[in-house]
Formats: sequence, C-alpha cells, structure tokens
Amino acid sequence: MVEAWVNSPESPRERSRPDPAAGTDLHLELSGEGSLRSRLMDALREAIRSGRLAPGTRLPPYRSLARDLGVARNTVADAYAELVEEGWLTARQGSGTQVARRTTPLRPDHARRSQGMPRRRIEHDLMPSSPDAAAFPRAAWLTSARRALAAAPNDAFGVGDPRGRAELRGALAEYLARARGVRTEPDRIVICSGFAHGLRLLGGVLEGPVAVESYGLDFHRGILDGMGLRTVPLTVDPHGARIDEVPDARVKTVLLTPAHQFPTGGPLHPERRTAVIDWVRSSGGLLVEDDYDGEFRYDRQPVGAVQGLDPDRVVYIGSTSKSLSPALRLGWMVLPGRLVDDVLAAKGPREMWSGVVDQLTLADFIARGAYDQHLRRMRQRYRRRRDLLVDTLAERAPHIRVSGIAAGLHAVLELPEGTEDAALRAARRQGLALDGLRPYRHPDSTMPPRDGLVIGYGTPPEHAFAAAMDALCLALPDPPQDDR
Ligand SMILES: Cc1ncc(COP(=O)(O)O)c(C=O)c1O
Repeated sequence: MVEAWVNSPESPRERSRPDPAAGTDLHLELSGEGSLRSRLMDALREAIRSGRLAPGTRLPPYRSLARDLGVARNTVADAYAELVEEGWLTARQGSGTQVARRTTPLRPDHARRSQGMPRRRIEHDLMPSSPDAAAFPRAAWLTSARRALAAAPNDAFGVGDPRGRAELRGALAEYLARARGVRTEPDRIVICSGFAHGLRLLGGVLEGPVAVESYGLDFHRGILDGMGLRTVPLTVDPHGARIDEVPDARVKTVLLTPAHQFPTGGPLHPERRTAVIDWVRSSGGLLVEDDYDGEFRYDRQPVGAVQGLDPDRVVYIGSTSKSLSPALRLGWMVLPGRLVDDVLAAKGPREMWSGVVDQLTLADFIARGAYDQHLRRMRQRYRRRRDLLVDTLAERAPHIRVSGIAAGLHAVLELPEGTEDAALRAARRQGLALDGLRPYRHPDSTMPPRDGLVIGYGTPPEHAFAAAMDALCLALPDPPQDDR
C-alpha cells in the first residue's frame, strides 16, 4: 500500500503565490489491486465522494503529488487527465486541477470501462445497523437538554456515579415497566453505553461458556470470546432458540434476542420463553436478554420482556441505538439484585462512559412523554417501509420470501441455496450496501447454512427509500426456471 499526506505546493515559485492547494491536507491510500494509476484514481474518487475533497478544491500539482506518493509523474498526470475526462476534476490553464463543481461523473459508462471493473459507489445503505438518522428528534431532544440543564443540581457536574444518574434510572424503571413489562427498581438499573458495553461489563462477572443463538452478531460473540468466555451455538428454528440444546452443565449463561431474533427475525415462542425460565431456575443459570428493538412491533402490541417472568434470573439490556441513534451511546442494564455490586465493580469507581448531559436529557425526554411520541412516529415510518419492501417483492420478485415477523428495522430475504454470494455481488453493482446471512452464523453451528440477505430498512432517508427498493429488486436472483 502506498500512502501519503499531501499538503505541499510544488516549487518555491508556486509557493510565492497564493495556492489553495497548499493548505489541503489529503490522506491518500493507494490500496487494493490494479495499477498505481487506477488505485490513485480510486483514492481520489473516494476522497471526492466522501467530501474530504470539496467541490472547487485545488489539487496539488501532479509533480508534487507524485513525489509524495513515490510514484511516477506520468501516473499522476494520467490519473488527473482521466478523472477530468470522467467529470470528477476540471483543469484550466492558470488555475490548475480542481475538484469539479459537479462531482457526479458525467459519463459513468466511460468510468466503468476505464477502471476495468464495476464502480462500487454506495447509493443506498441497507445495512441492518442504524435507524433513520434524518429522523433523530433534534428539536425535542434540545428541549429536553435545556430543561435538564436548567434543573440539574450542581453536583451533577462532579464525578459521575457509575450506576448512572438517579433521574434516568427512575424514568427508565417506570418506562420499562409500562412499555416492556420489565419488573425492577431504579437501584437495580446500571446505565451503560449500549448493549456492547453492558455485555463487556457482564463478561467480567460471568463464568463458563455462554450459549448463544446460532445466528447472531459476530461482534457480540467476539466480545465474549475476547473475555475468555467461549460461545456455544443453539439451533434457531421458527420458534426461536432451542434451549434444550444447552450442551453441558458448565454452561450457566444463555444470551438471546427473545423479542425479535437477530437477524433471522422470529420471536421466541411462548413455550420457549417458559423453557428458558425453567432452565435458568433448574441450572442456577442466567439469561441475558438483548432487547435491542423490542419497541418496534407493527402487527400487534410488542411482546413483553422475558425478564418480567423472573427478574432474579434475567439480565435485561436495552439501548437507544435503534430507538434514537447508535451515536448516542446510551443503554441500560436491569440486573438481578445479587449482580449489581459485581457489575459496578467491573465498571469501576467512577462513570467513564456516559455523559451526564445526555443521561439527564434522556431522563427528561422519557419523563415528559417525548420518547413514547418519537417511538410512535418511528413505528409508523418503519412499518410503512417494511410494507413497501414486502409489497415490492411480492410484485416484482415473488419467488423471494421475506421471513420473520413485522418488527424491528430489518428483514431477511430467503434466497435459493447457493445464491447469496452472487446476490451480494449484484447488490454492490447496484450501489447497495447490505449484508448476507452468512457472517451472522456461528462458526460451530451445526445448522444447515441458509442463504439470505439481511435488509436494514431504517437507514435510507425517506425520499430515497423507493429507489433503494428498485435497486434491490435488480440485485435479486431470477426465479428458478420452472417458476417462470
Ligand atoms: C442484535 C443487536 N443487539 C444490540 C444492539 C445494540 O447495540 P449497542 O447498544 O451496543 O449499539 C444492536 C444494534 O443496534 C443489535 O443489532
């Protein structure tokens, strides 16, 4: 990989006149495959697309860029010339080479040919990770922030209590009881920076292997592995995880997503909920309940948390990552009383993760009903999007089944066996970012692998959602011959 920071004009003569390029710090990485020229073109396109090089920015003279990157001058000159031809750059006598005011390539077909491979511009983000960022309730959040700041006692601005602010724990205890059927006292709630943080804190407290769903977030398995807790997979069938498969008596903890299995999309069947509680009671074990999107159910009232069935045997973890924003980094653990001190000891003597202003703001936001209001609005929005996804597929790709319940911010499209990779490649060609099912499968799972696409419908802005669905349809495999 060749990489360089480019920020210098070429010669003393050029340095003597004002050069807008002189102040431009531009980190270019010529990674990947292909010739230096095409890697440089890719790096420049990426810098323009991502906004690191704004329209009108003057680029370094090609000789100085060549020197900084350690490549031949002609390589840079050719790359500039080709990007001018594609419309990314403009070159004018006397004003050097600049990023074009209009940065959409003028001749995309030419661009594709000249690279010798399909372009990989992401136009629609259908990754299953985020809510609609444009819908963050800025005004209502700001109102709560103002109110919270005005009401905060001075001691709020001292060293933070690792349990989290009492105002937030009180508001959460009321909200979680009302909306999620969680049974708790504020004293059993510990504020954390989201599910991943909560899991990390628990990792310091748990012992022995942890049973997890065969399909789940690799990232969460990695947190447990990294803390020396081996994960063992349970089969996930249409009724959810098979708790009867917990392999041996050393396994004392099971981690589940009962409200909406992630990512396959089913709820834990009522009999399985009872079976999990029977198991934690008879084994002296613990259920870790990941309630990441429990508020988002569209066909009926959300099912309550399993925690309500036995608060002494379940650690319930919730987060604002789907309901508000994954950038807030705010979540909560509802703990059996006997674990509170251990988790606080794992967290340390002072709050180091969650800022007091956000905690107080969220407390006010919940207490004055703005959280419920926001969730109601988002439920309608995501429901519309899911309906559009289902209707579009029913009409244009009826051979593709959407599995899972009407809930959350993602859906799984079942693909014919052996077609996942090709569908992912086709999706990239359509400018779509999305995931296949395979990365979610536990490497030790004995379940037959499933081919599928995990479609996050939360992220695209409203105006672009229909276009994202069109692009998705173009990426899906054709129906099998005898279906046509
Ligand atoms: C399965 C699952 N659990 C939990 C979370 C929330 O994680 P965090 O609160 O760490 O952002 C997510 C993502 O939002 C998720 O997909």
